[in-house]
Amino acid sequence: MRIVGTTLVHHLLTEKEAFAPVLTQISLGAKLIGRELQQAGLVNMLGYTGGMNVQGEKVKKLDLWANDAFVEILKESGLVCTLISEEMDEPLHFNDYCKEGSYLVCFDPIDGSSNIDVNGALGTIFSVRRRRGKEADHMRPDALEKGTEQVAAGYVMYGTGTILVYTTGRGVNGFTLDPNIGEFFLSHPNIQAPKRGKTYSVNEGNYHHWHPQSRKFIDHLREIDKASGRPYSLRYTGALVADFHRTLLEGGIYLYPADADDPKKPTGKLRLLYEAAPLGFVMEVAGGKASTGEMRILDIQPSSYHQRVPLIIGSAEDVTMAEDFYQGRR
Ligand code: F6P
Repeated sequence: MRIVGTTLVHHLLTEKEAFAPVLTQISLGAKLIGRELQQAGLVNMLGYTGGMNVQGEKVKKLDLWANDAFVEILKESGLVCTLISEEMDEPLHFNDYCKEGSYLVCFDPIDGSSNIDVNGALGTIFSVRRRRGKEADHMRPDALEKGTEQVAAGYVMYGTGTILVYTTGRGVNGFTLDPNIGEFFLSHPNIQAPKRGKTYSVNEGNYHHWHPQSRKFIDHLREIDKASGRPYSLRYTGALVADFHRTLLEGGIYLYPADADDPKKPTGKLRLLYEAAPLGFVMEVAGGKASTGEMRILDIQPSSYHQRVPLIIGSAEDVTMAEDFYQGRR
């Protein structure tokens, strides 16, 4: 039966915080990006711009387009004072909107960019924080507070369909876009991550670059032991949002561990503010866990806007098992 019940806009009215317009604008960004992705091959939007981002990665045309779209759309909400994006070296401030009750949004406009040119799954990740200052005091380090301070977080996945999942701390809900009428409908109410899963998701090509604990843990998951449900199956799309979404719904574990060899990735590849922290918030509210192996992701005190962290996220029992390996108990 077709889902025609609660729309995202209606659902947002039940939220206590006044950030509904921010999330409504994010959903508009999701619709625009979803449309652009469908047409990208037809309108010369695939491939690279020729530039590099602050992470030293080659920027794709769609990365830049999506970033500009999000900047414009979030500014339009009139409630956002500061934006921090994977595609911008420094935070962007809208002075006119820096007042009491305004918000700061950290986002990754297109996550999993390597999938753009091969028609693979992609995502957008967002994190909404309260801006505590009343004035346009740009030195206020609101974004550099722990992930526990997020007031809302979520992601959009562009796959066979477009789905937006978000939480404000009271349940995790997923909304699927009906492209014919441009409306998101509640399709996945109150998502609960299974306590344990049967899959692991990691770029295993990096195996020989990992620290020994990472190798030991993955070796353990690959061992045959029927009684404990091993071996786990490997699933990896190369887009964090897609791997996260599957892990959230079906259980299991996603890892992007630190690299022992590559000085560029001593703390992993993924960014704390607009990848690990928002997804960590979603996973925890759904009953799962997010960890570096050593500590809870949401307890990390950020030290810079584009800080990277190792990420181990998924079913509570699977992440606890990983922590046992990382902390030397196994
Ligand atoms: O944003 C980083 C990202 O594209 C994630 O979406 C994805 O999980 C990861 O990088 C893939 O990295 P790698 O190609 O090193 O496996």
